[in-house]
Amino acid sequence: MAAPISIRGVSRQFGETWALQSTDLEIAAGEFIALVGPSGCGKTTLLRMVADLVAPSTGEVRIGNDTAAEARRKRLLGLVSQRPAVLPWKRAIDDVRFTQKIAGRVGFDPAKVLREFGLEGHEHKRARQLSGGMLQRVNIASAMAHDPSVLLMDEPFAALDEMKREEIGEWFDRELALRPKTVLFVTHHIDEAVMLADRLLVFSPSPGRVVEVVSVDVPRPRDPSFRQDPRFVAIAAHVRGLLMHKTSDAA
Ligand SMILES: Nc1ncnc2c1ncn2[C@@H]1O[C@H](COP(=O)(O)OP(=O)(O)OP(=O)(O)O)[C@@H](O)[C@H]1O
Ligand SMILES: [Mg+2]
Repeated sequence: MAAPISIRGVSRQFGETWALQSTDLEIAAGEFIALVGPSGCGKTTLLRMVADLVAPSTGEVRIGNDTAAEARRKRLLGLVSQRPAVLPWKRAIDDVRFTQKIAGRVGFDPAKVLREFGLEGHEHKRARQLSGGMLQRVNIASAMAHDPSVLLMDEPFAALDEMKREEIGEWFDRELALRPKTVLFVTHHIDEAVMLADRLLVFSPSPGRVVEVVSVDVPRPRDPSFRQDPRFVAIAAHVRGLLMHKTSDAA
């Protein structure tokens, strides 16, 4: 079950530095939001405030009727971090089980989750025996294993080559159609964001602030041929323009 997220006047300062200026956004249940912007503009900070890992300096995050802290306690959130801590000797299936154990909730049979994620026959392999793409699917499977309402993903496909990245993006899009979740997804990859998201938050360079919210009004899951669609090309070009303009402003 997906949950709506409400971000109201949320900002964060670290010492003298403003990581993120006041941000407002109402996200519908099941919506996919991509966060794009230059390095250091506060994308991870925003994600971590929704996850209740960083406290906002001002404002409030709500997940459904819960505060971020309540949502965390209820294990409504699944997090795929920018730097996942993968123990090389840990087995794929144990990684999935671990999330369920922590959550105190078995959303799915761990072997079934891994099978559905295309990892059949790899369940008992250790992290160091898996390819980057497989490992990333294990990370996502673990984040989803207790069936969270919200998925927070910080550059989840960054370590993958272009082909693998498109493939896993298409797979993930279909996966979400089966199990709808509200998704906050950080990426530096504009085409990936346009392909996957309902809306893109485009950030300015540090001190970060949302300069524009760009909608992609095309139902998901999307056919790979959407990459050639004139709407796709126009939106990607618009976002690229925003980022280049904003980046050169800061220079
Ligand atoms: N725990 C922290 N203590 C101090 N400063 C921090 C902390 N976390 C983030 N910052 C600062 O806040 C700003 C935003 O950082 P953040 O990690 O949110 O950026 P980002 O948009 O995710 O960048 P990237 O694309 O490189 O991952 C940066 O200036 C960063 O140095
Ligand atoms: Mg980051």
